[in-house]
Amino acid sequence: MNDRPAPGLADRLRAIVGERGLVGEDREKAPFETDWRGQYHGRAAAVVKPASTDEVARVVTLLAQERIAMVPRGGNTSLCGASVPDDSGTQVVINLSRMNRVRAVDPDNNTMTVEAGCVLEALQNVADEHGRFFPLSLGAEGSCEIGGNLSTNAGGTGVLRYGNTRELVLGLEVVLPDGRLWSGLRGLRKDNTGYDLKHLFVGAEGTLGIITAAVLKLFPKPRSRATAFVAIADPAAAVALLSKLRESCGERITGYELISRVCVDLVLKHIPAARDPLPARHAWYVLVELSDSAPGDAIGALFEAALGEAAEAGLVADAMIAASEAQRDALWQMREDITEAQKLEGASIKHDVSVPVSRVPELISRATAALEARFPGIRVVAFGHVGDGNIHYNCSKADRQEAAAFFSESPAVNHVVYQVVNDLGGSISAEHGLGVLKRDEIRLYKSALELDLMRAIKRTLDPHGLMNPGKVL
Ligand code: FAD
Ligand code: MLT
Ligand code: ZN
Repeated sequence: MNDRPAPGLADRLRAIVGERGLVGEDREKAPFETDWRGQYHGRAAAVVKPASTDEVARVVTLLAQERIAMVPRGGNTSLCGASVPDDSGTQVVINLSRMNRVRAVDPDNNTMTVEAGCVLEALQNVADEHGRFFPLSLGAEGSCEIGGNLSTNAGGTGVLRYGNTRELVLGLEVVLPDGRLWSGLRGLRKDNTGYDLKHLFVGAEGTLGIITAAVLKLFPKPRSRATAFVAIADPAAAVALLSKLRESCGERITGYELISRVCVDLVLKHIPAARDPLPARHAWYVLVELSDSAPGDAIGALFEAALGEAAEAGLVADAMIAASEAQRDALWQMREDITEAQKLEGASIKHDVSVPVSRVPELISRATAALEARFPGIRVVAFGHVGDGNIHYNCSKADRQEAAAFFSESPAVNHVVYQVVNDLGGSISAEHGLGVLKRDEIRLYKSALELDLMRAIKRTLDPHGLMNPGKVL
């Protein structure tokens, strides 16, 4: 790998991507050298914004010949420093945002073929305009891009019913680290012709190649919905309530998010438009959504009856069922604002861990006891996709602690949480990926064989280690 800026590099890149495709001034480069939370900072030799697959391939070919490392970049909402260059000033950031065309929609095949730089929310809208539904949904959907979603195998709030991004993709187009183009844009639901290569690139965090386009699955549009904010005693009640609702509502359960009172208080404190959905305070809540492709009120009646039964069984302390789209939106806004509110509150340490759903209560109680014993005053901000066993077991600093002192404790805090997760058979990253943040820690939790196999795949596709070096492995 080249450890010095290559002479004349900017002119050679400009010759491929044109004036508009090269970010010139240092001032304009700055946003590409840091992450969404402002926690990671680097320096880029150049930032390019190719407008087509051909331009990506030519840029990568040039950089590979010069042995220059590259950092693929989408909407930059990564929470683990995955899309930030290192501080050597020698890496080139390749941002896909200008590649934002929808190439085709095939309603009968229930697919759309899209370029990597399409913003997730724009794709949800395109599906809707064609009478279909694209179910990937997350708080960052207004700025994250599908190339980034694929590269992180993003989860979000629809996983319970529709699966992670990996389950939503049928084909990929990828520029490999040497500049060759793999055209795997197949729209097939069945294809048993050997290794399914697309899955190598999903969740690879840009370390194996640059995704330039994808064929995505579409689904029937939900035509009726019921949404409720349900107060419960504790996380064990959340798990028991999910099992009970599954018996009566089955696959109609589309969203099932755990929210602690600490989260509600943070949102009420920092987000002026937020309102407490229930009159009294409760320690825990779940935001539950049912949806059905059949229109009508049946789903509302089913939900009310199911919650009534659950209340009789002692699983529900109180509940507010949204009576309008506006109320539904406000409930989801409360959920999605937790990340922003925690950011506004100050220094936080984030975890996106998973355990079997049945073990979530133990995860929360054991990790909280261990952390509070070792870090007096630490505030646990636990929420998230409990229906998938995936909890954002985040921590905010004690009221009077300095941010720097808190951050200096993060390796120790992480370690306490990850040990509990590991004891419960879980994963230290269920959603956001390893990036830089969890790159070292993962070595403690994956077997030597798994790490060897991962390194062998990396060497095969990227023998010179040019594609997003320093991330994942
Ligand atoms: P970036 O941040 O630009 O990049 C992420 C990684 O993908 C990097 O390794 C980068 O090198 C690589 N990459 C980007 N584009 C390409 C490409 N075309 N080809 C190859 N590699 C590429 N994540 C969840 O899973 N679930 C959530 O619920 C969730 N909620 C969030 C809420 C908020 C408010 C925020 C800020 C983040 C949230 N995230 C969540 C994390 C983040 O949004 C996701 O990881 C998202 O998928 C990243 O997409 P991006 O376009 O921003 O990617
Ligand atoms: C979310 O689900 O809101 C994010 O993935 C969590 C986070 O910000 O930690
Ligand atoms: Zn999440």
